[in-house]
Amino acid sequence: MRILVTGGAGFIGSNFVHHVLEHTDHTVTVLDKLTYAGNRASLDGLPEDRFEFVQGDITDAAVVGELFGRHDAVVHYAAESHNDNSLDDPRPFLDTNIVGTYTLLEAARVHGIRFHHISTDEVYGDLELDDPARFTENTPYNPSSPYSSTKAGSDLLVRAWVRSFGVQATISNCSNNYGPYQHVEKFIPRQITNVLRGERPKLYGAGENVRDWIHADDHSSAVLTILEKGEIGETYLIGADGEKNNKDVVELILTELGQPSDAYDHVIDRPGHDMRYAIDSSKLRTELGWAPRFGDFETGLAETIAWYRDNEAWWAPQKDATEARYKSQGQ
Ligand code: NAD
Ligand code: DAU
Repeated sequence: MRILVTGGAGFIGSNFVHHVLEHTDHTVTVLDKLTYAGNRASLDGLPEDRFEFVQGDITDAAVVGELFGRHDAVVHYAAESHNDNSLDDPRPFLDTNIVGTYTLLEAARVHGIRFHHISTDEVYGDLELDDPARFTENTPYNPSSPYSSTKAGSDLLVRAWVRSFGVQATISNCSNNYGPYQHVEKFIPRQITNVLRGERPKLYGAGENVRDWIHADDHSSAVLTILEKGEIGETYLIGADGEKNNKDVVELILTELGQPSDAYDHVIDRPGHDMRYAIDSSKLRTELGWAPRFGDFETGLAETIAWYRDNEAWWAPQKDATEARYKSQGQ
């Protein structure tokens, strides 16, 4: 297959590109605008005969049309992805997540190309801490933030283009990813790089919010499975049973880096902060036979900490600007 990956210079997209080139014979083209979140260095060293990089915007129909004409499948990761930024300025989220997805779907319709849409568990809203429920493919949409509402909107566009125009699409909604190449604005890399720089981790509010962590490489293997074996028109939830509250994650990071486990600060909470996400991925596991490789979060976290320790040249250029922005918001 010739696979076009939108947003392939971002965190999860770049992990997917590495995964595909390592584990299959497919070729990959990345289409990425290289916003503040995209990093060309995340794609360094890939085999030139199987990999191409195109800098461009998914809202640009001419660029998208030319690329769709010479690929067999598209995996659509490109997005504005950070909740805190969406609270600050929602507009880029509407442009990329809604108009960008619309532009890709129109091209998919013209070219009859296989389309896989990457989405998030945040479209389902949040759960109470004491609720035994987990999200399934049948949970009603109830997004909380500008980010998650634009992702929900993009999912609904995909469903409509499948039903109305016969676009050959699947959707996956995944929980929180961690692993290499994640921007230091996000929770886990922010805290690891704070400690590596001698700064204290910053916990929003009381730190009781729960996220369902999955390693980005497990997300990649799940997406590849859906691309190769998924049923057109279906949605699959991706998760690895990794529920942990934020306070426990910060304490694990501090301990792994040899610091006292209480050496962190509480800062202003995120407005509208979702309390808990939890994924039931039974459909993907039973119907398509997928299973995660990282059974245990602590092992994956230790590997991730080691990656940030060994790759300061990758993250250092982003760090000062990111912290200055958080500081201006009291976080
Ligand atoms: P990211 O912010 O790290 O990367 C996004 C990438 O998209 C960047 O390389 C950026 O340059 C590119 N991009 C942004 N706007 C673009 C545009 N208009 N045209 C072309 N490229 C553009 O994001 P991420 O965390 O890797 O998330 C990727 C996808 O996975 C998103 O769709 C997100 O909603 C979804 N997702 C993320 C998580 C998570 O935990 N990070 C979990 C579930 C789903
Ligand atoms: O659930 C999937 C989603 O996970 C994806 O759709 C998003 O693209 C991705 O950014 C992520 O969203 P979150 O808002 O859950 O991730 P974030 O890393 O921003 O925060 C994780 C948790 O940590 C959340 O409860 C907020 C908290 N937090 C975050 C930061 C940056 C802190 O306590 N301190 C921090 O400094």
